[in-house]
Amino acid sequence: MQVCRTVEECRHVLSNFRQASETIGLVPTMGFLHDGHMALVTEARKRTDRVVTTIFVNPTQFGEASDLDAYPRDEDHDLKMLAAAGVDVVLIPDVSDVYPDGDETIVETTRMANMLHGKVRPGHFRGVTTVVARLFNFTQPDIAVFGEKDYQQLQVIKRMTRDLGFPIEIVGVPIVREADGLAMSSRNVRLTAEDRAASLVLNRSLDAAQAAQTTDPKQLRDIISNVISSEPRAKLHGLDVVQADTLHDITPGYDGPVAIMLSADFGGVLLLDQRVITP
Ligand code: PAF
Repeated sequence: MQVCRTVEECRHVLSNFRQASETIGLVPTMGFLHDGHMALVTEARKRTDRVVTTIFVNPTQFGEASDLDAYPRDEDHDLKMLAAAGVDVVLIPDVSDVYPDGDETIVETTRMANMLHGKVRPGHFRGVTTVVARLFNFTQPDIAVFGEKDYQQLQVIKRMTRDLGFPIEIVGVPIVREADGLAMSSRNVRLTAEDRAASLVLNRSLDAAQAAQTTDPKQLRDIISNVISSEPRAKLHGLDVVQADTLHDITPGYDGPVAIMLSADFGGVLLLDQRVITP
């Protein structure tokens, strides 16, 4: 596995693959990897000859400097996991390589970035699309793989890719869960034991919503809110029930898949979960 610390070095390695007519899969990450990330790598490996992973804690998608500083990092562990998973190239660029001095270019999906989760985290999705567009240009992959846990992020990236005409297939991978049902996330390590136990209410609420066999948004919202409010340690932060592909509200007559996007705070740690319900 080749570890590149500059974009230039990475471009060089990847151009050799391309000259040999090998296909390239990109797995962008912010590091502190867990089995959820490894599922993305496995998917990329299945679909392409070569896999490049990026580790970059992207400053433009964090609202507050303190969140950025608090973001967990463990590069040695990450590199061991990636090597074991058969990744070919890891790009770990400096901030100045991704955002050169005097940088003034942003990429934004104007509607999708500023609704739902984007309303409570202003600028977050603009930061994501800005960095992902750059990573796409740096690596020019055939496919790029993202988790479905960050469901709005996945839809925002799909829209940006389509709108800007990147010749890249965006692949979504279902959530990987711990044995007890908690969606894997780099944030889980910040939960106290009590909040870790309480956080299972997220998956439980989604199970209850799915079991109701309805795609009616009001019914789904009521079920989720009731289950979450039964757990005193959980503070419901966001609950959206939308058309799965466009994130538009569910309008009368809509009979396609419905996405439930959920976020809740457990002792200051915000956790996300999600489920798509097909009628
Ligand atoms: O999902 C993430 O880890 C990040 O938002 C991403 C896509 C790597 C962009 O920084």
